[in-house]
Amino acid sequence: MLSDKKIIVGISGGIAAYKACEIVRRLKKLGAQVIVVMTENAQKFVTPLTLETLSENEVVTEMFPERKVVGVRHINLAQWADLVLIAPATANIVGKVRAGIADDILSTVIISTKSPVMFAPSMNVNMYQNPIFQENMEYLKKLGYMFIEPETGDLACGTGKGRLPEPETIVGDVVKFLTGKRDLEGRSILVTAGRTQEPLDPVRYLSNRSSGKMGYAIAEAAKRRGAKVTLVSGPSSLAAPGEVNFIPVEKAKEMHSAVRSRFGRVDALIMAAAVSDFVPSVVSPGKTKKKEEEVYLKLKPGVDILKEMGKRKKKQILVGFSLETENEIKNSKRKLAEKNLDLIVVNNPTVPGAGFEVDTNQVILIDKKGKVEKLPLLSKKEVAERVLDRVSLLLKKRRAK
Ligand SMILES: Cc1cc2nc3c(=O)[nH]c(=O)nc-3n(C[C@H](O)[C@H](O)[C@H](O)COP(=O)(O)O)c2cc1C
Repeated sequence: MLSDKKIIVGISGGIAAYKACEIVRRLKKLGAQVIVVMTENAQKFVTPLTLETLSENEVVTEMFPERKVVGVRHINLAQWADLVLIAPATANIVGKVRAGIADDILSTVIISTKSPVMFAPSMNVNMYQNPIFQENMEYLKKLGYMFIEPETGDLACGTGKGRLPEPETIVGDVVKFLTGKRDLEGRSILVTAGRTQEPLDPVRYLSNRSSGKMGYAIAEAAKRRGAKVTLVSGPSSLAAPGEVNFIPVEKAKEMHSAVRSRFGRVDALIMAAAVSDFVPSVVSPGKTKKKEEEVYLKLKPGVDILKEMGKRKKKQILVGFSLETENEIKNSKRKLAEKNLDLIVVNNPTVPGAGFEVDTNQVILIDKKGKVEKLPLLSKKEVAERVLDRVSLLLKKRRAK
């Protein structure tokens, strides 16, 4: 599967360094050529001998080796690799790369390479949440560095977000990246994600529980598959995916104008955002005072962005998300027809593991011909791939017409 692929596995000094052994073993088993580069601190956690045995290659640990090596080693390494994977990546190595520091062999290889770089950060939850680390990560993402998100769970010290995903998951991401499809190359895709927030007064707003995870996963996967992606996102705690044109918005009205002004120029619009169906009829200019009696909120229907784009649609592929807690299929088929969609992705948030905030989703895909495909419970990343498979197919058919 990875037989023609050359991978540098960079190991920095984190407690999860032991998992790097299994990552190297699995990459080798898939046929990749692997060269391990270790920081000095990484060698306190695992020995170069173990990794030399597993990678079947000399392990690189020094910038200035005593033994003569032919050529400039860090440049040769940087050019050799199809991918540089840093697993585990310490807060330190991420910070150094962000700052352009190249003071050991691993940081120097990372900074010298033109190959794709994938970091798998792993650390204590407080280190992970530290705004300095978060900002470093965001900065690097914007430059196109990839990050494998750490998991939430037991850490060497306490619990929380910061655990290195299992080797199987990391190797899966590597395989997906190196062998992945580029079927959306040359396509322009507009994705909406997250919730909208409708002000009631200067301090309160009406919103919903959408986290943005589904839409962000779609934007990220579409980018990886070669598309030019614009992500219009309502408020979300997620980091904007790298190399995506990111348009942050708050109100449904703002999302509407961001979508409308771009719709004519895209090949597909995937509306995964949870747009407010109702918006306050009146927005109070000052904070509404606390009262002893009941207060009534007057709401009016919000703009139906999908429906409007359905009317404006020419050649664009239009995908909507539908959230239903009962009669999902019947109601969604009606929406698909009413809004002139090509595909509708049906969610039911009451299904365990599906809906808001979680990393998994169970959806039903319904197309224009009324064909219904029920997908099993999958990660949102996998659901994103399946939705894009359909979009890719629809785009091909459109071109064939
Ligand atoms: C027992 C132990 C475990 C550590 N685990 C981590 C970790 O999981 N992640 C991290 O970023 N730093 C961790 N550190 C701190 C790093 O080792 C330290 O920041 C070091 O400077 C990293 O160097 P390097 O990035 O050059 O390998 C740990 C330190 C010790 C002593």
